[in-house]
Amino acid sequence: MTPDDIQSLIAEASQEIATAATPAALEAARVKYLGRNGRVQDILLALREAPPDRKRDLGRLANEFKTALQAAVDARREALAAAAAIATFDVTQPGRWPAVGSRHPVTQIIERAIEIFGQLGFVVADGPDIETPFHNFDALNTPSHHPSRDPKDTFYLDDGRLLRTHTSPVQIRVMQSRPPPVRIIAPGRCYRRDTTDATHSANFHQVEGLYVDRRVSMADLKGDLTYFARQLMGPDVKIRFRPHFFPFTEPSVEYDFSCHVCGGKGCRVCKHSGWIEISGAGMVDPNVFRAVGYDPAEVTGYAFGMGIERIAMILLGIPDIRMLYENDVRFLQQF
Ligand code: DAH
Repeated sequence: MTPDDIQSLIAEASQEIATAATPAALEAARVKYLGRNGRVQDILLALREAPPDRKRDLGRLANEFKTALQAAVDARREALAAAAAIATFDVTQPGRWPAVGSRHPVTQIIERAIEIFGQLGFVVADGPDIETPFHNFDALNTPSHHPSRDPKDTFYLDDGRLLRTHTSPVQIRVMQSRPPPVRIIAPGRCYRRDTTDATHSANFHQVEGLYVDRRVSMADLKGDLTYFARQLMGPDVKIRFRPHFFPFTEPSVEYDFSCHVCGGKGCRVCKHSGWIEISGAGMVDPNVFRAVGYDPAEVTGYAFGMGIERIAMILLGIPDIRMLYENDVRFLQQF
């Protein structure tokens, strides 16, 4: 065999390997050229019989033959495997969307409240979930015999502290930490020893609001809550106050929004009353100002609280508060 013969053998074999249509055909071609009785033996024979001055050239070609063909076999094997993989993949199938998360309904309402009250100049304030009885009750003018302090209703820690039962203690912490004027909202978790049912949960969320300055009035309260209600639920929503009692406000009210579904005519959402109860509010009691070192002769203020789950349920049509905590993706995906 001459070097030219070997070159053309390489060309012939490469062609055959590169066009092998199946793994079996490829293996046959490999055996035919590189196998124990394959054409490579012709070259090795020629090498053995060649005169010494030709041996070097022929040896180099024999090596080239082996490495070139082995590389061609490997490349073809990979190509055939890739083609087989594509053959089992249906390119006409619709694609699969990756799962995309969404904000929890409670978070959505809290963010809306922060945004809307932000437009009125309110900044976000924060306080701890574990509170002292002073911040949660005493400073809020809640007497020592008040039923809300009962361990049947409030979670106490061994050291006498408690899980806050409302976001109102944030009012106290904010006023203790800075002089008036103050205009804050405080969203956060609250805890009560309630038995869980469709409308109660042992932990829930409130947004607290507090506005203290010279000459803040009940009209400011009503105006600001009306602005909030209309931004949140629609431009025609009305608001109404009903007299109520809270230890930390005087006078105190409960406030309702007119039903955004029926416009006040009465429907299932508002239980045919035309109104939806939201929460409590009022003018900050002078005793609360005294507890934080503000002078009630100098400043007045209003405060309000609202239950976030309740607003989320009304606005988004959620029938059971427990759905908000089960984290069922099929539920959460709808918002
Ligand atoms: N803290 C009250 C509650 O949990 C809600 C509330 C009522 C907050 C009146 C206030 C307020 O700031 O002035 O039921």
